[in-house]
Amino acid sequence: MTDPAAQFDQLGEVYDTFSDSPFRRHLEIPTVLGALGDVAGQTVLDLGCGSGVYTRQLRRLGAARAVGVDPMAGMIEHARSIEAAVPVGAEYLAGQVPSELDGTFDAVLAVYVLPYTADRDLLADFCRTAARALRPGGRLVTLPANPGLRRDRGYYERYGFRTYGDSAGTDPDPITLDLCYADLDETISAWVWSAAALEDALTAAGFTGIGWSGPAVTRRGVEALGEEFWQPYLDCPHAMTVQAVRH
Ligand SMILES: C[S@@+](CC[C@H](N)C(=O)[O-])C[C@H]1O[C@@H](n2cnc3c(N)ncnc32)[C@H](O)[C@@H]1O
Repeated sequence: MTDPAAQFDQLGEVYDTFSDSPFRRHLEIPTVLGALGDVAGQTVLDLGCGSGVYTRQLRRLGAARAVGVDPMAGMIEHARSIEAAVPVGAEYLAGQVPSELDGTFDAVLAVYVLPYTADRDLLADFCRTAARALRPGGRLVTLPANPGLRRDRGYYERYGFRTYGDSAGTDPDPITLDLCYADLDETISAWVWSAAALEDALTAAGFTGIGWSGPAVTRRGVEALGEEFWQPYLDCPHAMTVQAVRH
């Protein structure tokens, strides 16, 4: 299989555009940052940072150090160009997390990365990487696909994306994702892990206290678009928040 991350090399601008969507601004980003809690003074790794949407945000929220790492050089180049234009002190590294950073992070954030661990080796590598980056007691916040997400093409379209494709009954189970917010027109292959497989991999890597939670929408989001707009997503989110602690 070609590296699933390779799909993202040239998608920096796409993810920046998508980050302006009401879905990300009023629901996803507040949900993730709420799960992460207060990062003031903390050292945070944004693993699979892409264009740095969260890395920049972490610095704005007072993280002492925010390091974005992504295997795709094109994504990191894009993130660095934004940092050069509007410096916030976010650091970016292309490739793997260097071993000299092992055990130095209070928290690891990894948003929409698990859906691209397409087999058990990639899943185990991801979990081990997150665990070795953290100090004991450090926490992981990550967003895998919801194992019960909808596969009918139009269900999430109003939020700027579509998920579709019959279940193959495998673990992970492939799915197709279109980004269709504004003028975006990108199709991406993704994978849906069962809760049991994810929890086993996290536990094997040294995580404990694994908890799952769903999204919440901000009051401004409800005022702007109405409860009816958000309800289908809240009824069946396409991604869940998973938290775990490194023991
Ligand atoms: C959907 S993008 C999300 C980017 C960013 N986290 C965000 O929320 O905007 C997924 C990113 O994860 C990276 N990625 C894929 N597999 C990875 C892995 N095993 N470890 C770390 N990053 C990975 C990709 O290169 C890509 O930039």
